[in-house]
Amino acid sequence: MNMGKYFIKGGERLSGSVRVSGSKNAALPILCATLLSSQKSVISNVPDIADIKSLINILEQIGCKIVFEKNTVTVDPANIKYKPLSQDKVCRMRASILLIGPLLARLKRVKMSFPGGCILGKRPIDTHVEAFKQLGAQILDDKQNIHIKTKGLKGADIVMKEISVTATENVVMAAVLAEGETKVNLAAAEPHVQDLCKFLNKMGASISGIGTHELTIRGVKSLKGCEYKVTGDYLEAGTLAIAAALTNGEVEIKGINPGHLHSFWQKLEETGVGFTMGKSGVKIHPHKKLKAVRKLKTAVYPSFPTDLQAPFAVLLTQAKGVSKIHETLFEGRLNYLFELEKMGAKFEILNPHQAIILGPVKLRGVPISSWDIRAGAAMILAALAAKGTTEISNIEFIDRGYENIEHKLKKLGAKIERK
Ligand code: EPU
Repeated sequence: MNMGKYFIKGGERLSGSVRVSGSKNAALPILCATLLSSQKSVISNVPDIADIKSLINILEQIGCKIVFEKNTVTVDPANIKYKPLSQDKVCRMRASILLIGPLLARLKRVKMSFPGGCILGKRPIDTHVEAFKQLGAQILDDKQNIHIKTKGLKGADIVMKEISVTATENVVMAAVLAEGETKVNLAAAEPHVQDLCKFLNKMGASISGIGTHELTIRGVKSLKGCEYKVTGDYLEAGTLAIAAALTNGEVEIKGINPGHLHSFWQKLEETGVGFTMGKSGVKIHPHKKLKAVRKLKTAVYPSFPTDLQAPFAVLLTQAKGVSKIHETLFEGRLNYLFELEKMGAKFEILNPHQAIILGPVKLRGVPISSWDIRAGAAMILAALAAKGTTEISNIEFIDRGYENIEHKLKKLGAKIERK
């Protein structure tokens, strides 16, 4: 992992054009799903980031042959073997949990330690476990480790305990090779869930209802390997759009489906930021004054994404008036505000899910730290808007989710160095 600190001198107006990388949260399940076939798959537009490298490492340990070159991953899963995955392998990221569905479907057995990842409050796995049970899996342990077995998965009519991204992805990956039909009610519909489903269909699966909260999966006997291009990262696009707005810049962001961010564009418009949408990109225009938003409420897709809550809050520190934030998914996702406070942000935390932000304030460069992937991105954004130099530590969190972010920002005119 590339440790170090960022030193960012704020106040530079960003301009130019930038292409976003492939989506981390789509690439991770897609790489796991390659295990469902014994044939080779070639996945392009994979971001070269720490989380992908951690996953590739685990896939190699269970017997996959992998080549990762120029954002393309070739996975040959012909000879994978059952192997318990210990703490040291899965501790780096929550997404290791995505191995359960495909391993259960292909090898009928999986044992792993509890996955690590960002501290975002309680992140239980009950929704995953319940769904596997309904497909006929036997849960041998879900307290000390995760240990699940099956004699053969069978399609079922499942109502998910909660709308969860990775639990939906897991149950879909398990169900594509199950006997008979599975219905997943209360499925997550995020663009990365959709991308995984499209990949599985390209492998020969039969999934319908993609993009809705009700998926129907007709089980098939086997899947083939295939070539697939991962969708652009709408979360990175949103982050770069905020960077442009914070510096009052003019930036074209390419390589995404702007339709993935409808509620984000709505909120951006409410702040007074203008933009032009194209088919595969968006151009952010300079604005006059930033206005507070009445309420920024995160929720499952297509509502405002929780992963853009912290970045957007930085923009709200520069907006005139009182903005309310309501984070409905995670209770640990307002902690970054205490870092922003060191830079001069004014806010009040109402409860673990709600805060108000008072703006505008002048942010100043001080040493700060990143808390998780998206809070890390928020720190970079705050630094771009601040007076003076901001030193950001713990940037390994940022490396987990953003490919070459400093190069992209530098190309747009930011003064950012990694030391
Ligand atoms: N939940 C349960 N039980 C479960 C699973 C989830 O109660 O078994 C709850 C969680 O506590 C939370 C809610 O369901 O309140 C939603 O969590 P979800 O399961 O959807 O989150 P996740 O699947 O663990 C994915 C992303 C996160 C993103 C969330 C929400 C991946 C690999 N991770 O996590 O991304 O914040 O969905 O959209 O797709 C990130 O990229 O920085 C990141 C944290």
